[in-house]
Amino acid sequence: MLKRVGVIALASGMLLAAGCGPKAPTPTVNESMTHVMSPQAQTIWDITSHAFNERGDGLVASKISPDQWTQLGNAGRQMRDRALVLAKARRITVAAPEETIMGQDASHPGVKHTWDAASPKQVQALIDANPALFAQRARILAEAGDTVLKASRTKDVRPLYKVSSGLDDVCDGCHQKFWGTDEPPPFPQ
Ligand code: HEC
Repeated sequence: MLKRVGVIALASGMLLAAGCGPKAPTPTVNESMTHVMSPQAQTIWDITSHAFNERGDGLVASKISPDQWTQLGNAGRQMRDRALVLAKARRITVAAPEETIMGQDASHPGVKHTWDAASPKQVQALIDANPALFAQRARILAEAGDTVLKASRTKDVRPLYKVSSGLDDVCDGCHQKFWGTDEPPPFPQ
């Protein structure tokens, strides 16, 4: 019985991959962030932060084990693939009804000012107002993931360092536009 289920799952997976059969719904932004971007970025940051050179301005290849390269490759691939799903989606959904986005309890209805916490509805409105920019930001993240994947194949620490040290900005580049901002409020006059 279990075997049969496995075969059916495999077959429908192949159908989906081939672009026919019932289409899986596009994952929400929230699911993508909590289940893919956050943990995969953490893997990249964890491994690279233990591989710094003495000056702290680059990585040492011998400090990354073969197993860690494999983890890095997987992390890069998952980030790339999910970012591309978001970049290509016809319509982005921030959160399913049962999902809670970080900070939404502190949000208030109406126009969101720069330093206000955002509700899913407010984030949704920001994305719907500029889906092309959202897709562009997602593509930048996909490229970062792809670079990590390629670096893992050649075990090349230079591109890996470039991505890991700049990844925060890639995340924030989208968060600032669509979720809020990471800048402190302006100094009161
Ligand atoms: C293309 C846009 C985009 C990019 C790029 C992006 N994010 Fe997000 N992220 C969002 C949006 C929109 C939200 C707010 C909705 C939400 O919280 O789910 C968010 C929220 C989050 C949250 C909060 C999730 C929660 O519990 O509500 C985390 C964690 C997160 N992002 C991690 C990351 C990391 C790490 C990266 C970079 C590796 C990244 N994101 C890159 C769009 C993006």
